[in-house]
Amino acid sequence: MAVFSLIFGWACHALWYLFFIVLIAFLGYSLYIKHIHMKYDHIPGPPRDSFFFGHTSTFLREMKAERVIHEKFLEWAETYGPVYRLNGLHHVILVVSCPEATKEILMSPKYPKDKFLYKRLFHLFGQRFLGNGMVTARNHEQWYKQRRIMDPAFSSLYLRGLMGTFNERAERLMDKLADFADCKKETCMLHLVNCVTLDVIAKVAFGVDLDLLKHTDSPFPKAIEVCLEGMVYHVRDVFFQLIPKNWPFVNEVRQACKLLRDTGYRWIQARKTAIQNGEEVPKDILTQIIKSADKGDNRYNTNDEEFMLDNFVTFFIAGQETTANQLAFCIMELGRHPDILEKARKEVDDVIGMKQEISYDDLGKLVYLSQVLKETLRLYPTAPGTSREVHEDMVINGIHIPGGVTCFSSYVTSRMDKFFKDPLTFDPDRFHLDAPKPYYCYYPFALGPRSCLGQNFAQVFPHRLREPFLLRLATRPQQTLHICSQWGAVLAPCYSPFT
Ligand code: HEM
Repeated sequence: MAVFSLIFGWACHALWYLFFIVLIAFLGYSLYIKHIHMKYDHIPGPPRDSFFFGHTSTFLREMKAERVIHEKFLEWAETYGPVYRLNGLHHVILVVSCPEATKEILMSPKYPKDKFLYKRLFHLFGQRFLGNGMVTARNHEQWYKQRRIMDPAFSSLYLRGLMGTFNERAERLMDKLADFADCKKETCMLHLVNCVTLDVIAKVAFGVDLDLLKHTDSPFPKAIEVCLEGMVYHVRDVFFQLIPKNWPFVNEVRQACKLLRDTGYRWIQARKTAIQNGEEVPKDILTQIIKSADKGDNRYNTNDEEFMLDNFVTFFIAGQETTANQLAFCIMELGRHPDILEKARKEVDDVIGMKQEISYDDLGKLVYLSQVLKETLRLYPTAPGTSREVHEDMVINGIHIPGGVTCFSSYVTSRMDKFFKDPLTFDPDRFHLDAPKPYYCYYPFALGPRSCLGQNFAQVFPHRLREPFLLRLATRPQQTLHICSQWGAVLAPCYSPFT
């Protein structure tokens, strides 16, 4: 009995100590949040929803209502000016739409990508995802080494050699559409361009023929879609995976990630074997990925293998949805504007005529079509934002900024009437050669050293797909157009069937 009461006494003491420790930690954390508020509250910003969670509930509300979060950023930029503050726990994000600050921060290599966002993408709900790949690498040396090795696979010289694949895939899509037209069947354009873009990336980047227009049961397109959706929940809601009703989705995301990495593992092993056997292999992204992990002795440990897979997943994620959605948005805007469609069609007719094989140089002559593409990315920058950590104090638009995470959204600046007149009007002539160039307020491929590596690729391939489309599009697409909202990592068009 005495022993029992002794243990009981100790347990009570321990509980009291624990309670005090938790209380002190809680008070300490609250004071720290207060300190952060005091440090940043001179910067304008919307009122916080709560002391602890800052603006988090607004984000969650917007996501739940399936609205585009960048619309909210835009609304706040109009109200609070060129730099405003958002809070969440002890984190502060500064949303910047001031062109001078955008130039200074994005063009400089000295500001790394921010820890909070890019480190969180290392894993998705516990499954390794983008790891230390090119998009998420924060260490300058590590990133620079990868970028140098990857560059040749994106040079215009290399892209010229890919025109055959682009031509062939474009024709396959046209054949597929002709089949639908002959049977007078409805189809979903977004799905088709998704498949064909994925096909092209798999072929030109990894040397693999997926032929998704034929093999419609492939789990690949769905896996990428699920990972992108998972990314958003994983980044925006730190408690997401703790809620039991979300577990089936969390599991689906983990499986999708695993599918991408397992596939990458098989393709990388096959290519390594080919290299070791002295076979001639293309100098594509897959070969460059293997080179980027090579330390000169052709031996790879587990870390190297994981690193190669990071980049494998990175290229699929960075390249596929962004390009496919851009194409889908473009086709739909053309459908809404018969005059622009006609002008683009005439240009394609003049430059290409009935040529079957289109050359790289032909694409350079499609000036108006380029403008259409630029204007599409202005209204629908499919990868709308990026962020950087600024470690030193600076002044933005007369406001003292004590360092912190700065966030940039091309969606926001592209839709502000102080930068673009009648911003919601689709007008490719804004990008006419004689028109003034937008000054650091239009950056769908980001800017500076960390700008999109696939930029050239993303301009050539959609061009190649649009031409036959323009020439053969007999009726206006009947698809409805608005932006798919539940995501936000990549802007996607919502669609109804295309007839
Ligand atoms: C319309 C299509 C595309 C758009 C709008 C786009 C946009 C972007 C943006 C905004 C970034 C910066 C991301 C950040 O800071 O977090 C980026 C980076 C990147 N993109 Fe793209 N992208 C497109 C297509 C592609 C394609 C086709 C590929 C490759 C196949 C690709 C590969 C990359 C890579 C590797 C990076 C990281 C670059 C670095 O940090 O050095 N992108 N892209």
